[in-house]
Amino acid sequence: MVCRHTIGDVDVYDAVTSRHSVRDFLDRPVDHETLTRVLTAASRAPSGGNLQPWHVYVLSGARLAELKNRIAQRVSAGDRGDALEVATYPEPLGGPYRQRLYDFGRRRYGALGIDHDDQAARARVRAGNWDCFGATTALFCYLDRDMPPQWGDAGMYLQTVMLLLRAEGLHSCPQIAWAEYHRTVAQVIAPPPQRVLYCGMSIGYSNPAAQHPEMPRAALSETVTFL
Ligand SMILES: Cc1cc2nc3c(=O)[nH]c(=O)nc-3n(C[C@H](O)[C@H](O)[C@H](O)COP(=O)(O)O)c2cc1C
Repeated sequence: MVCRHTIGDVDVYDAVTSRHSVRDFLDRPVDHETLTRVLTAASRAPSGGNLQPWHVYVLSGARLAELKNRIAQRVSAGDRGDALEVATYPEPLGGPYRQRLYDFGRRRYGALGIDHDDQAARARVRAGNWDCFGATTALFCYLDRDMPPQWGDAGMYLQTVMLLLRAEGLHSCPQIAWAEYHRTVAQVIAPPPQRVLYCGMSIGYSNPAAQHPEMPRAALSETVTFL
């Protein structure tokens, strides 16, 4: 007998395959009860030694509007952001990763008719990150600065959140882009100084009219070795 496991009424495989990064959300609020249910369940995510090292801040309403506004002002003034506290990618990016990053950009911007080399147009589209792509809720995950090994735990936690959101009919977009304006995020959130912003996440209802380019994955043989 095949045992299908479900999250709420959503099959786990369906939650995984229907999750994709949404970059066009409806202007529709997400209710507090739903988010509380998701975040309560997500606290079951595993972590080494059960440290549960994530510190999560959820913004909506006036607080999120203030954050969007502050960053929009910086972006429109030509401010390219804060020095990163943690590099997003190693420099240089080698192996197959450089090609995968290139393919990602080609698909993401190509779907909008933007040429790969049109940096100005790409920057305009990227700025949608700091408007949460229209989403009315965003989550910010911080870690203690001296705990880099725990970043894997935070990744598992965030994926658990994203899958549970699917069970609620919600979508998400994880966003490291917030780290580029981490000082402004910190001004609005006011986390303790020992915390570093790992990743943000927009949360909401996907615009059904939006086109989302599919991001293919490497062949299993490229990433998995059965011995
Ligand atoms: C840690 C992390 C950070 C990401 N940061 C961003 C971001 O800043 N902006 C964005 O639009 N997408 C971001 N993404 C989404 C990835 O581009 C996306 O997951 C990848 O291209 C695969 O596409 P899919 O999520 O639609 O399956 C991020 C994903 C992860 C896991």
